Amino acid sequence: MDDDTLPLSPPDVGVPTIARMDNYLLGGKDHYEAERQASHRLLTMVPTARTVAVHRRRFLERVVRTLARELGIRQFIDHGCGLPALDNVHEIAQRVHPHARTVYVDDDPVVASYGQAYLERDERTAFLRADIREPAAVLDHPRVRELFDPREPVAALFVSVLHCVPDQDDPAGIIGTVASRLPSGSAVVISHLVSDEEDVRERVTDFMRRRTRGSWGRVRSRQEVERCFAPLEILHPGVVDVCAWRPDSELARVVGSGRWMEYGGVGRVR
Ligand SMILES: C[S@@+](CC[C@H](N)C(=O)[O-])C[C@H]1O[C@@H](n2cnc3c(N)ncnc32)[C@H](O)[C@@H]1O
Repeated sequence: MDDDTLPLSPPDVGVPTIARMDNYLLGGKDHYEAERQASHRLLTMVPTARTVAVHRRRFLERVVRTLARELGIRQFIDHGCGLPALDNVHEIAQRVHPHARTVYVDDDPVVASYGQAYLERDERTAFLRADIREPAAVLDHPRVRELFDPREPVAALFVSVLHCVPDQDDPAGIIGTVASRLPSGSAVVISHLVSDEEDVRERVTDFMRRRTRGSWGRVRSRQEVERCFAPLEILHPGVVDVCAWRPDSELARVVGSGRWMEYGGVGRVR
């Protein structure tokens, strides 16, 4: 674990983690009773939480493919990458550009061991256990410097992770720092859980904060997410329910609603 910037402590399987809850909602097998119980409670509050999670993952896949194909991006940094999935960023990118380079970042120690075992499969792919709330430290990390060409554009992904960041850690400021550090032509991808209903935002935020013992920020409004795009030139089709972000088919389902959706898009660094 030479690449870690964070200390290790033994995982407490009695406290649900975001990564394992997400894995449960996505139909994975890497979770414990604590995550299953918390997810079922979440589903009583927002019954579409599972389908929204599945469609957000499809969004991530479409975005990586689009950025690799249409913008020619060959360097990806996946902030808050979560547990390995069926198809991961480096695999999607390398199907377009075989020499694409990917850095995965997550602060969860279990995600780190899985990531190092299952994602770091070639010399073009690295896993970094680090805190995305320190974006400059992430971008300056020796592994990132070693892998990335600073003159080439980068796609910085923040898919379904900024709602884990509390207001005092300034999610929009994190995006601002990253945008100011990447070369022109780079892209920043943001998706965030939102609700138009204040009581849903408050109830889910309160539940997730208590259950995860503080590893959670806030469910935000669409306007708050739109503000994160301020330093960027927003690409077509804008900041939307991610199901509607360049769907593969016009028959694709939009599963989000004003009550609960993953909201986001892609911004280009000017
Ligand atoms: C909902 S999962 C999203 C996974 C993935 N991005 C996706 O879309 O499938 C959020 C991930 O962000 C990680 N995370 C939360 N806060 C973080 C932080 N401050 N620094 C690094 N990772 C963080 C969690 O450990 C979790 O694995």
